[in-house]
Amino acid sequence: MTHTVTIKPSNQSFELQEDECLLDGALREGLHMAYGCRNGACGSCKARVLSGDIEHGVHQESTLSTAEKAQGFALFCQTKALSDVVIECREISALKDIVVRLMPCRVQTLTRLAPDVMHITLRLPSSERLAFLAGQYIDIISKAAPRRSLSIASPPHQEGLLELHLRNYGGPFSQFVFNTLKEKDILRFEGPLGTFFLREDTQKPILFLASGTGFAPIKAIIEHALHQKIPRAMSLYWGGRIKEDLYLHELATEWAQHHGIHFVPVLSALPPDDPWTGRRGLVHEAVMVDHPLLADYEVYACGAPIMVESARRDFINHCQLPEESFFSDAFTPGAP
Ligand SMILES: Cc1cc2nc3c(=O)[nH]c(=O)nc-3n(C[C@H](O)[C@H](O)[C@H](O)COP(=O)(O)OP(=O)(O)OC[C@H]3O[C@@H](n4cnc5c(N)ncnc54)[C@H](O)[C@@H]3O)c2cc1C
Ligand code: FES
Repeated sequence: MTHTVTIKPSNQSFELQEDECLLDGALREGLHMAYGCRNGACGSCKARVLSGDIEHGVHQESTLSTAEKAQGFALFCQTKALSDVVIECREISALKDIVVRLMPCRVQTLTRLAPDVMHITLRLPSSERLAFLAGQYIDIISKAAPRRSLSIASPPHQEGLLELHLRNYGGPFSQFVFNTLKEKDILRFEGPLGTFFLREDTQKPILFLASGTGFAPIKAIIEHALHQKIPRAMSLYWGGRIKEDLYLHELATEWAQHHGIHFVPVLSALPPDDPWTGRRGLVHEAVMVDHPLLADYEVYACGAPIMVESARRDFINHCQLPEESFFSDAFTPGAP
């Protein structure tokens, strides 16, 4: 049995299959809405159901609270319809020409950028190219490890090779990449996925906020912006625990010297006697010290879920950042 889903304010509608979630049904029909992890962990797909009966599916109280449910909010990547429904969300037209594909690829290089960060390049089949927006991610699929999401660190104009940065979290996927995967191995991936990309219909100054390997999609976006000669002011705040976490510090310094990008590295776990002369503390708090008012900015935040959530909450509540000017990908853990 199918149910009709109507999207407000556009009045577009589509048929949802019996066991399909709202997000999958919309994407299948080429209707793009905000999303990130697709497993109920990040909250990016949260939007309102205006009428109809739904089943919320699996989620945590921290991602969708009881109060939000009472106001009609739901996580579209988990929610199924039990009747025809009317939902309210903004559609993302920039993704209309992007096709999600299942593709084979070959591991071209595996290089340590830091003791716990692997730089991976994937070669696409010679006749293929992948159309994506800088900042999107892919899901790596292998029989040897669970499916995991990794952001594309290279910009779309760099054809043929996809660059990824993986932190060793110690889980099954990290162990597979750090201990078993070899150059020339064949993998498959699904992508491009996600809605973390640069909105180019505004001239607002951009504030990039990364923790650890959250730098990966931000690197892609900055390289895309430089290639396109986008004239907007850009600042990059990159946080880690120790210096090694800022594994491409020299590249960010080079952007600052040659392209005028304001670069602020911030470290949170240094011993007091460490000779580091840069900023210390939490990276999103460093932003708030420098920018107590963010009303005219766009913020792009990526990395640890706690950093992304703290930045969203504090920038909106204390720095007057409009909610619609905060874009993020939280690196939520993969499903077991
Ligand atoms: C949209 C998206 C994009 C992503 N892009 C990247 C990327 O470009 N680079 C990258 O390194 N990772 C990225 N991730 C995270 C990645 O998909 C995996 O979660 C990660 O590789 C861990 O997989 P695992 O199997 O090794 O460990 P898991 O089984 O996922 O986790 C093992 C343990 O590590 C902890 N853990 C997992 N992830 C994190 C985290 N982010 N912060 C703190 N603790 C964690 C878990 O709580 C768990 O205890 C992304 C995630 C999402 C949702
Ligand atoms: S919670 Fe739905 S996309 Fe992350």
